[in-house]
Amino acid sequence: MKVFILGAGKVGRGLARGLRAHGDSVTLRPARRGIPKQRIDADVVILSVREKQLGVLCTDLASSGVLKKTAVVVHNAGSLTADALAGVRGACAGVAQMHPMISFASTTFFPSLTRGQCHVKGDAVAEKRARVLAKHLGMTPRTFPKLDTVGYHAAAGLVANGAAALAAIGAELLVVSGVPRADAPKMLGPLLRSVAENVEALGFPDALTGPVRRGDAGAIERQIGLLREKLPDAVPLFVASAWAQLPLARALGDAPAESFDAMARVLSAAMQSGARSEKGDSSKPSRSGRARRSGLGGGAPRHGVRALTADRLTRSRHVIAATYG
Ligand SMILES: NC(=O)c1ccc[n+]([C@@H]2O[C@H](COP(=O)([O-])OP(=O)(O)OC[C@H]3O[C@@H](n4cnc5c(N)ncnc54)[C@H](OP(=O)(O)O)[C@@H]3O)[C@@H](O)[C@H]2O)c1
Repeated sequence: MKVFILGAGKVGRGLARGLRAHGDSVTLRPARRGIPKQRIDADVVILSVREKQLGVLCTDLASSGVLKKTAVVVHNAGSLTADALAGVRGACAGVAQMHPMISFASTTFFPSLTRGQCHVKGDAVAEKRARVLAKHLGMTPRTFPKLDTVGYHAAAGLVANGAAALAAIGAELLVVSGVPRADAPKMLGPLLRSVAENVEALGFPDALTGPVRRGDAGAIERQIGLLREKLPDAVPLFVASAWAQLPLARALGDAPAESFDAMARVLSAAMQSGARSEKGDSSKPSRSGRARRSGLGGGAPRHGVRALTADRLTRSRHVIAATYG
């Protein structure tokens, strides 16, 4: 298949690499160079640009006359339907969303796409070609007819970007616990990979491991105590994470129900004391020197973590409990 990718960012380059490896003929053009003057000789045009760029790009593509009438145009945005390409619909054979549910973090290092899922949806001919391309990339094309793309994209972001941020906080905890900073990502990457493999192969609640699953309230209490001393700003996130694990652990039932009740009491107490200190902290933040030096204590991350108040944690806990409790 002949593919033209407009946008040489992280996704554009990642897709170009994967399609070329399969044997597709790929032209990759940085969007900042603008729309080409000559006719685009491609079966599929992929607009691999930021969401805000799509509207103008479609208008310009439609008016430029460089698109073949037989070509289809797709975008990679998870949060947008094919209608984001409405401006170019009349100038091509059809449009579609083609969203790879994979995290592309670099223009020089590329994630494996194998067994990845790719949501494709739009006009029949565009959807069909996007499906073919997804398969060329080693991905499974999926079409969910009633998909709420905003919720779908929020889920992808929560897991992918949330995991990266969680790992960054985990790295700080490793550092204050004595692990050299350079070693932290090397230790956490394979750990995350094992979680990913468990999630894919086992699903929920089986993918859960650790002291919450084992009903070890004492271990969680000791860990919260250590965090309070060495990385206090991470306490709300740690507690939120444990709350999210609790309904999964209860559903697995690897420990007596009373041990999970004890865990809930430990977490409630931590939330309440966190909410109290948040109130008291508003005028005068109190942080350990170590946390300040770690970078966790300053700027946006600190406010992001502190913004997880007791009320919000309780609400998110109820959502998970309703599913697994
Ligand atoms: N990253 C992911 O994990 C991921 C996963 C699935 C879907 N997506 C979607 O794929 C689309 C592209 O995302 P992406 O991650 O590839 O975005 P990106 O790396 O930011 O690249 C997108 C566009 O931004 C331009 N750009 C890059 N740096 C810029 C800068 N400093 N100033 C101005 N423009 C700049 C690039 O221009 P040039 O083309 O001129 O280089 C490129 O066209 C988005 O719709 C996104 O939602 C992303």
